[in-house]
Amino acid sequence: MTTTKLKPDWAGDDLLSKLVNRAIQTPALYALMKRQARQVMIKTAEKNGVPWRQTCVDLDTPEMRQRLDQLTDPAVVYPDYYQVPFHAYSEGNLCWQAAFEAAPATYAMALRIWPQETLTWQAAQTRLRQSFLTVLDQQGPAQVHDILDLGCSVGISTLSLHRHYAPRQSPAAPVRTVGLDLSPYMLAVAQAQDTQGEIAQWVHAAAEATGFPDRAFDLVTMQFVTHELPRSATQAIFREAWRVLRPGGALALLDNNPQSPVIQALPPVLFTLMKSTEPWSDDYYTFDLEAALVEAGFETSGVVLTDPRHRTLVARKRG
Ligand SMILES: C[S@@+](CC[C@H](N)C(=O)[O-])C[C@H]1O[C@@H](n2cnc3c(N)ncnc32)[C@H](O)[C@@H]1O
Repeated sequence: MTTTKLKPDWAGDDLLSKLVNRAIQTPALYALMKRQARQVMIKTAEKNGVPWRQTCVDLDTPEMRQRLDQLTDPAVVYPDYYQVPFHAYSEGNLCWQAAFEAAPATYAMALRIWPQETLTWQAAQTRLRQSFLTVLDQQGPAQVHDILDLGCSVGISTLSLHRHYAPRQSPAAPVRTVGLDLSPYMLAVAQAQDTQGEIAQWVHAAAEATGFPDRAFDLVTMQFVTHELPRSATQAIFREAWRVLRPGGALALLDNNPQSPVIQALPPVLFTLMKSTEPWSDDYYTFDLEAALVEAGFETSGVVLTDPRHRTLVARKRG
């Protein structure tokens, strides 16, 4: 599932990458691409059973707006890199539309991983998460009581983690899982989805400055977060994860694999769209995550290619 090429030609300093960047910076062309891509994405998702528009209608309630007020920490400072358009939303992750569409977009994303198979969106999502959890079982800490899911978005990753570890808990030491995100809109939706109150806390903070004490967690995860970050932010978050982990604990990452032949061979329309909606792509696809983890003090056992598009990395803090 890898090629000898370390990254796609459409990212970094290659000529193709520069051409794509120029196309993205042409406003009329970008607006047209964005509109068409949105329509295709929603239509394809709904054709595959993902209730995209209905989900947005269902989530848009007065209670949701109250949750936003309750969850927002007015002291949070948004870094500049976060206050740019993401995923074709001009307010990035800081708006209701991004939060309402996050779950259907996540379900649709998992369906694209195994195009040759006829999977329901639920089965594809479970398989995606399970592949990550299997690596965690093999390489992660033996005892997991306290879990921090950084960049938890609307809580899909947080709930899947919690439900993996909670059944193993002893009554004396129950599993406590925390979801943290910079977007209070995402957190409001996450809290509404957590209908059984399984998650101990939904925290509005930057992953670079979580506010938790040293050595508070056994496991910290970042699922589909690093590709949304400039490398300086990733490095700062790795240092923060190391600080809040107990010795013997682990930071586990799941994200796009720059060496994936599928990602490297994406059709031009798709990679142009991907770059245009994810502003830190060039930084992510040319960044050595493993080296950055080692620099932050972690030990790693190498990358695991958990599906045709994604990689998992488990980095341990020495016990
Ligand atoms: C693609 S979503 C993650 C999805 C989720 N973890 C999952 O696997 O379903 C990326 C999330 O990271 C959050 N994020 C980005 N930068 C962040 C930062 N510096 N601190 C905290 N959250 C951040 C965004 O607000 C967004 O909700």
